[in-house]
Amino acid sequence: MEYSRLKNGKTLIIRKAQKEESSKFLDYINKVCAESENLTFGQGEFGITEEKEVEFIASLAKADNGLMIFALIGDELVGQLVFNGGHRPRIRHTGEFSITVLKEYWGFGIGTELIKYMINWAKETRLIRKINLRVRSDNQIALNLYKRLNFKFEGTITREFFINGNFYDSIHMGMEIDD
Ligand SMILES: CC(C)(COP(=O)(O)OP(=O)(O)OC[C@H]1O[C@@H](n2cnc3c(N)ncnc32)[C@H](O)[C@@H]1OP(=O)(O)O)[C@@H](O)C(=O)NCCC(=O)NCCS
Repeated sequence: MEYSRLKNGKTLIIRKAQKEESSKFLDYINKVCAESENLTFGQGEFGITEEKEVEFIASLAKADNGLMIFALIGDELVGQLVFNGGHRPRIRHTGEFSITVLKEYWGFGIGTELIKYMINWAKETRLIRKINLRVRSDNQIALNLYKRLNFKFEGTITREFFINGNFYDSIHMGMEIDD
C-alpha cells in the first residue's frame, strides 16, 4: 500500500484490488466508460459479469506477472490500473497495461502515481522485462503522460478502434525493464 499527497491536498492510497471489491469496480467502470471515448468499450459495453470479475481479480492476485491496483481517496475508487502478463513461457516476461481515472480527478497526478507503482512492482518481480501499452492516437493527455514517464514510441496500428462509424489508429508504446 502506498500513500501520496495529491495536487488538491487530498491523500491518495494505491493498493492491490481484492476480489471482494468486484462490484465496487464494476460500478466504477460504468462511470468511467461514460466519460471517455478513449477506451476499448463504451457505455454498457464492458460485458463482464460480477462473477467473472471476481475470478479475474483473484487470478491476477495469484499471478506473478499480473497486477490490478486501485487508487482510492477515502473509500472512493477514483482510478485503476491492470497489467496482464503473457501466459505462455516465451511471453511471460512481458504484458500490457490499461489505466483509467475518474474524470473529476484528472490532472491531480493519480495516473502518474498508478503508473509509477506498476513500474516499481515490475522491477521488484525480477520477471517482468517489458511493459507495453496501446493508446488511441488522438488521446493527447495519455500520450503526454506516457512520454513524460519514459515510455517509447514503437509503432502505429491503423484502424484499431471503430467508434460511431469512424476508425481510429492506436499508438504502441513500451518500456524495457532492466534493473
Ligand atoms: C489518461 C488518464 C489515465 C490520466 O490520468 P490523470 O490522473 O489525469 O494523470 P496525471 O494527472 O498524472 O497526468 C496527466 C497530465 O495531463 C494533464 N491533464 C489532465 N487532464 C487534462 C485535461 N482535461 N486537459 C488538459 N490536460 C489535462 C495533467 O495536467 C497532467 O499534465 P502534467 O504531466 O503536465 O502534470 C486519464 O485522463 C483517463 O482516465 N482518461 C480516460 C481513459 C484513458 O484515456 N485511459 C488511457 C487509455 S490508453
